[in-house]
Amino acid sequence: MTLQAAQNPARESASESQNSPRPADPKALYGGTGTRRITVHQIAAAKERGEKWPMLTAYDAMTASVFDEAGVPVLLVGDSMGNCHLGYETTVPVTMDEMAVLSAAVVRGTRRAMVVADLPFGSYQEGPVQALRNATRLIKESGVGAVKLEGGERSLPQTELLVASGIPVMSHLGLTPQSVNTLGYRVQGRGDEAAHQLLRDAKAAQDAGAFALVLELVPAELAAEVTRSLSIPTIGIGAGPDTDAQVLVYTDMVGLTGGKVPRFTKQYADMRRVLGDAAKEFAEEVTGGTFPREEHTFH
Ligand code: KIV
Repeated sequence: MTLQAAQNPARESASESQNSPRPADPKALYGGTGTRRITVHQIAAAKERGEKWPMLTAYDAMTASVFDEAGVPVLLVGDSMGNCHLGYETTVPVTMDEMAVLSAAVVRGTRRAMVVADLPFGSYQEGPVQALRNATRLIKESGVGAVKLEGGERSLPQTELLVASGIPVMSHLGLTPQSVNTLGYRVQGRGDEAAHQLLRDAKAAQDAGAFALVLELVPAELAAEVTRSLSIPTIGIGAGPDTDAQVLVYTDMVGLTGGKVPRFTKQYADMRRVLGDAAKEFAEEVTGGTFPREEHTFH
């Protein structure tokens, strides 16, 4: 170890890894060389390899293109668009029309990422036929590669019919925001009975043919047990470090969300400040007469 490294081991390991980068696995979901759209088969293979992978939400073409170019392999057009994009208080009011339009935008903005669209509240609870009609619309009209729905045992007939019809399904357990009016926003699966029910739900989703399972706001130990028990990948949000993948709501991740954000989220940028500063600078230049300048002007 160099003297510099002895003083700062973190710096040495960063520069070592720059000098001899780990060769990227060409098959990797993140960092791989493939340029075609990610498929459910590649997602299944990642679990077998033990590869951890990232998923982000996206609600528009431009942001989706940034995440796609960054190599994020799966983008979720979550019904979190309700509170994060459309100005609703919860996910509950989101409609099929809104989901179809924004999902199509995300698909148009991407080349490689698998795009998964949420089935919004009220679009599948009536039964499997309603679920098939609405999922088919998102596949045909918006061009997404898969749909997500909440619930394990309670959504079994819907998942079975969608999968039998050739539509890949991602399930969602734990805190299921469409049930906010009954569950509230709190950790799910605490206590033996609730933990056993969550395990039963997870198995039910897998047996019905779901290709992946989101676990939201559940104790890390339970998420780890579910992850070990399933052959399909788990995607955690507020579910600790031992799930196969991690998802964040992108507006939380980039610091756009105003006010309090959940403890499980991590802010990797301060976009609220960046956008606010840009808007103020623009306003000051307009009011001060320094924008537009000659180079912005046509004659
Ligand atoms: O709608 C959403 O963004 C979600 C994620 C929290 C998984 O369901």
